[in-house]
Amino acid sequence: MASSLLGRQTAGRVPAWLWLLLFCAGLLPFLHGLLGVWLHWLGANPVEAVTRASGDWALRFLLLTLLMSSLRRRLGWRLGVRLRRMLGLYAFFYAVVHVLLYLWLDQFFDWVAIGEDILERPFILAGLLAFLALLPLALTSTRTMMRRLGPRWKALHRLVYAAGLLAVLHFWWMKESKSDVSEPLLYAVLLGLLLLERLVARGHPAD
Ligand code: HEM
Repeated sequence: MASSLLGRQTAGRVPAWLWLLLFCAGLLPFLHGLLGVWLHWLGANPVEAVTRASGDWALRFLLLTLLMSSLRRRLGWRLGVRLRRMLGLYAFFYAVVHVLLYLWLDQFFDWVAIGEDILERPFILAGLLAFLALLPLALTSTRTMMRRLGPRWKALHRLVYAAGLLAVLHFWWMKESKSDVSEPLLYAVLLGLLLLERLVARGHPAD
């Protein structure tokens, strides 16, 4: 049942046109951010705007990745499961962009300040832990690693649930300090539904 971040590519191939379409669609938020910085349409604080947008997209792609296995189980829609790996890697890609923007444009690679920030603001620590949970999933996303790890691959990829929970907590704590948790609440509900679906579906693998 490990409907993981990176998923298995099973039962046939994704049509090349669909793969390409999804690949291009996944890059759109990134291009939007780049163009926004270049053409100055991101408002008074472009650094904050792109940091937030990349965080949003990392979380969205993470939830979309989880959704694919549920769609397979509930609706018998197999194609989504075959697209899971790409969606998972996009979640990781946007998380990397997000973290790099924070390290570079927010903290100027001042490692002492970064250490202090992690200790002082719990939402930063939750984000870091979410990122650390995503990292091994991305690193073991290849077929070779899947084969090499065997059954341990599935166990490892259950980290995707921890990543989702920590990312929502990260968002929640960030917004709580600004007294508006309506947006993270929406993500929390969506993640809760996806996790609940998995609990109900125990023993019915998605692929
Ligand atoms: C080392 C890891 C991370 C750090 C240092 C970090 C840092 C930040 C910072 C500084 C903000 C903006 C806060 C503000 O503008 O006041 C933010 C927002 C956010 N981050 Fe992270 N983050 C990390 C990892 C992650 C990960 C892995 C995800 C998702 C998978 C994520 C999702 C988000 C979301 C959804 C927001 C809110 C965006 C919004 O306001 O709409 N972050 N993060």
